[in-house]
Amino acid sequence: MPKTLLGLIGHPLGHSLSPQMHNEQFGKLGVDGYYHLFDMPEEELQKGIQALRQLGAAGFNITIPHKVNVMDDIDKLDPSAKRIGAVNTVVRENDELVGYNTDGEGYLESLLAVRSLEQIKNANILVIGAGGAARAVCYALSLRSPESITIVNRTQEKAEQLKNHLEDIAAIKTASKEEAESRNGEYDILINTTSIGMSPEVNNSPWILENVKASALCSDLIYNPWETRWLKDAREAGLDTLNGSGMFVNQGALAFKYWTGKEPDRKAMQALVEDHLK
Ligand code: ATR
Repeated sequence: MPKTLLGLIGHPLGHSLSPQMHNEQFGKLGVDGYYHLFDMPEEELQKGIQALRQLGAAGFNITIPHKVNVMDDIDKLDPSAKRIGAVNTVVRENDELVGYNTDGEGYLESLLAVRSLEQIKNANILVIGAGGAARAVCYALSLRSPESITIVNRTQEKAEQLKNHLEDIAAIKTASKEEAESRNGEYDILINTTSIGMSPEVNNSPWILENVKASALCSDLIYNPWETRWLKDAREAGLDTLNGSGMFVNQGALAFKYWTGKEPDRKAMQALVEDHLK
């Protein structure tokens, strides 16, 4: 058995690229590790984590639908995972399972490839959606003190909860769809965190592009399809766009570093994802 056992826990797992992405890097960096898919329905999560403890797993990633529930089955939480209220990476540290969240920082790193920290600080940001991904992204953005973050969500109450959770560290507010649409010309960065644009909603757009500033960036967390309808429309309108592949790669790279102490080759990881999905 490889010395370092890692993997992804979720259900259903489908065609995740995480095993290939991590296993290729183990090979290149000489880590005696193996990243495996662990498909676990909700009722098997507790037993599954117990089994991974007994196998001496060095850690694991967590995806839908366990990012919140897993917090009950591990021993400690990193402060940022606690604040986000979700865990996507678990690391075994001195026989304790410690929960981290690399989604938000992974997103931020992908954003920094197309916008400077200074531009982020001066930005009015619109976040569409208020689920788990939005929580991680809003937390990471909040730490960079942007000019403003506006959250708009189908269920307004969830947007309010997210705002309340972060308003001590950021200039954050909620808006109704109509209100946010009427201010479309004010946003520098628009971020879709909802599943609108993913199968089966591939022909739908999460947000209108009317009156959006010519210098604005439209950023979608989705990377399959590679270019959502919304990003295609934005690109054709001459706007800058960013898909979610960089977030996926960076969240994985940050987890890899927690587990192995080594920096993986992010360009090679990005190329692997592009080869499969672009
Ligand atoms: P994730 O972990 O990917 O963020 P989630 O926590 O289930 O997933 O959150 C999904 C987000 O997408 C929510 O903001 C959800 O809106 P609601 O809070 O109203 O449920 C949003 N969403 C999903 N499908 C949507 C749709 N068809 N129209 C509008 N919003 C949608």
